[in-house]
Amino acid sequence: MSSLPAAPRSVDHDDTRWAARHMPLLAHTMRTHGAAFAGRRIGICLHIEPKTAVLVSHLVQAGAQVTLTGSPGTTQEETADALRAAGVDVVGHRSDDLEQHRRNIATVLDSRPDLILDNGGDLIEGVLARGGMPGLIGATEETTTGGLRIRSWETQPDFPVIVINDSRLKLLVENEYGVGQSVVQGFMNATNLMIPGSRATVVGYGPCGQGVADTLAHLGARVAVADTDPYRALEALMAGHQVGDLRDLLPRTQLLFLATGRPGVIGAAELDVLADGTVIAGVGHMPWEVDSEALAARAVSVERSGSSGQEREVYRLADDREIIVLAGTKMINLTAAKGNPIQAMDLGLTLQARSLAALTDRVGNALTAGAQPVPATIDRQVASGLVELLSVEPDRAGRPGMSAR
Ligand SMILES: NC(=O)c1ccc[n+]([C@@H]2O[C@H](COP(=O)([O-])OP(=O)(O)OC[C@H]3O[C@@H](n4cnc5c(N)ncnc54)[C@H](O)[C@@H]3O)[C@@H](O)[C@H]2O)c1
Repeated sequence: MSSLPAAPRSVDHDDTRWAARHMPLLAHTMRTHGAAFAGRRIGICLHIEPKTAVLVSHLVQAGAQVTLTGSPGTTQEETADALRAAGVDVVGHRSDDLEQHRRNIATVLDSRPDLILDNGGDLIEGVLARGGMPGLIGATEETTTGGLRIRSWETQPDFPVIVINDSRLKLLVENEYGVGQSVVQGFMNATNLMIPGSRATVVGYGPCGQGVADTLAHLGARVAVADTDPYRALEALMAGHQVGDLRDLLPRTQLLFLATGRPGVIGAAELDVLADGTVIAGVGHMPWEVDSEALAARAVSVERSGSSGQEREVYRLADDREIIVLAGTKMINLTAAKGNPIQAMDLGLTLQARSLAALTDRVGNALTAGAQPVPATIDRQVASGLVELLSVEPDRAGRPGMSAR
């Protein structure tokens, strides 16, 4: 195959063209599996940013009809507008609150998709709330939080849901390396603070927290980790981080990164011991790791500043401590940076495209209903493609090549 994908011509947007130049795995997959999408209606909930625009553009070029909405607070308006101008049905805006987000989800479902690509479980929850959706073949779910949510429901989907995050490959390349780099980048963009020498605590040492902790440490921060899982805590210790109980670490923390994906991790007891001046950034999918009611109850004033995506809220507490919350703890790599690095998303979105295509073919026919990992054959094939891509010498233009497979 040729060394690089053609930039999707239909989306007139510099950042999307730039992303497309660095997404050869997805382009290759769409050449080999794109026929699966011809004539399909696809409902998507995913962060609206240039890498998503590349995927959507490929799907549309393959003959699919796409209805897209974003996740709360992360939509990049310029990208959404470029997709709309290219004829894609894009629903919603960055400023949408959770109520509007629910309406956006309903609009996507009203398009009666054959296939669903979900992020956080919102579309799939909507299907179940409607008592099912005739004609729906199956769905993919992008993230850890969505996978956990779906598996926790009493009523399970009666269609297959491939949880992309259950791919070994995605956890390694995207969650660990991709999230690590982009979260620290977003934090630096939002604060202009110095990382070397700072005291940073990362809560949750799953692949995402691990990437963040390791990136901070490489930059010279003094990193501490709190994880309730002793195996994960041990991993952090072996990687050279200080490990401890969260409440013991907080009084000495300057920069706090929340990567558990669970609600209320910073509750009343934790708020009471946070150090004065702590800056809090969200990594997990939902902006719920700080108990906002407990924080609001302790605040005597809130000062808001910063531009869109880089909002800072300075909470002054009754005991005179100040706690600074960035972008309401929404994912800082999406609000204050450009999301995960392009190559990491090339991999994740390739797993998405392969999994969506598999739902329509004989692999899909063999899938059972409910949440399940990416089929092992797909994971392995994509891993081999990535190894091949990263191993080759750059071509004369300084870009990676990739042979046909
Ligand atoms: N920002 C992004 O771009 C991005 C990308 C991928 C995933 N995510 C999200 O990041 C979050 C983490 O993803 P992951 O794959 O690392 O998840 P994971 O579930 O593998 O790891 C979370 C860790 O948090 C720990 N934990 C849970 N509750 C805790 C508590 N109260 N105190 C301390 N530790 C606690 C768990 O033991 C676990 O080790 C999820 O919400 C995921 O959806 C974000």
